[in-house]
Amino acid sequence: MLRFGKRALLGMAAAMLATPALAQAPFPTRPISMVIPFAAGGPTDTVGRLIAQAMSAELGQTVVVENVAGAGGSLGAQRVAQARPDGYTILLHHIGMSTIPTLYRRLSYDPINGFETVGLVTEVPMTLVARRNFPANNLQEFVQVARRERERLNYANAGIGAASHLCGLLLQSALDTPFTTVPYRGTGPAMNDLVAGTVDIMCDQTTNTTEQIRAGTIRGFAVTTRERVAALPDLPTAAEAGLPNFEVSVWHGLYTPRATPRPIVDRLNRALVAALRDESIARRFADLGTAPVPVARATPEVHRTFWQADIAKWRPLIQAAGQYAD
Ligand code: MLT
Repeated sequence: MLRFGKRALLGMAAAMLATPALAQAPFPTRPISMVIPFAAGGPTDTVGRLIAQAMSAELGQTVVVENVAGAGGSLGAQRVAQARPDGYTILLHHIGMSTIPTLYRRLSYDPINGFETVGLVTEVPMTLVARRNFPANNLQEFVQVARRERERLNYANAGIGAASHLCGLLLQSALDTPFTTVPYRGTGPAMNDLVAGTVDIMCDQTTNTTEQIRAGTIRGFAVTTRERVAALPDLPTAAEAGLPNFEVSVWHGLYTPRATPRPIVDRLNRALVAALRDESIARRFADLGTAPVPVARATPEVHRTFWQADIAKWRPLIQAAGQYAD
């Protein structure tokens, strides 16, 4: 029979008490990789880089942005779902997290249970835009040209699952008019071609279109939110301009791989909240037609509930449209 003296028992108790402290080893102690599932220079990249910079300052470690583009944002999501759940690989993704689980029937990762939610980040309005010399001055004229030209119009987007793809589907359905889709690895490169005039139209987030519309390098016809956007005060809402029920905005959230320990998720969440409270981020977001979410919405729980409800909202719509990626 084993016998322990008082001193040995006290030592064991101390060791047991020390175990939780070990589980909560300092984090982070090295740079963190923030995966952006679309090309550099686009709207997700813009939001991600601003947030990454502010999170770096709060965490005391660099949050390095890594663009893992392709398959409408699902390749980047896959990279994070399959990463070690240690907090050093995180994902900034958008509304595609709600549509991909239905749009893609064959994925090599679990698009719903493969992640821990860290918090919501922002909601971004979309804008209907065209090349600078597109032959329409307003949305009514745009609709006439679209109905006349149909598939002769090239519609740029970032692949099935991208917000620009979703907005294009809604637009084609609202106008009952098909366009020819031109997919890119993100709307950053698509915007270069729109400015160059090699594609005709796009529906993209204000974080990518505001400065181009203001500079006159592309033409803006409408914003897809119920209210006008302060950064683009002259741009009518789609409803004002004659397209009611054409409403869509693009929410973004931060994720870690499933089974990331809760103290690490909480540490990342604190850094996210600090970024959302950063006045310079709020100013830059406002310049680009968006705003940080109120911090009460930037919790893992609110994020997960919102995301699950959004998956349930999109599933029947996608199934009814019968439009799948595979
Ligand atoms: C991007 O960052 O390129 C966009 O968010 C793509 C999209 O969803 O349209």
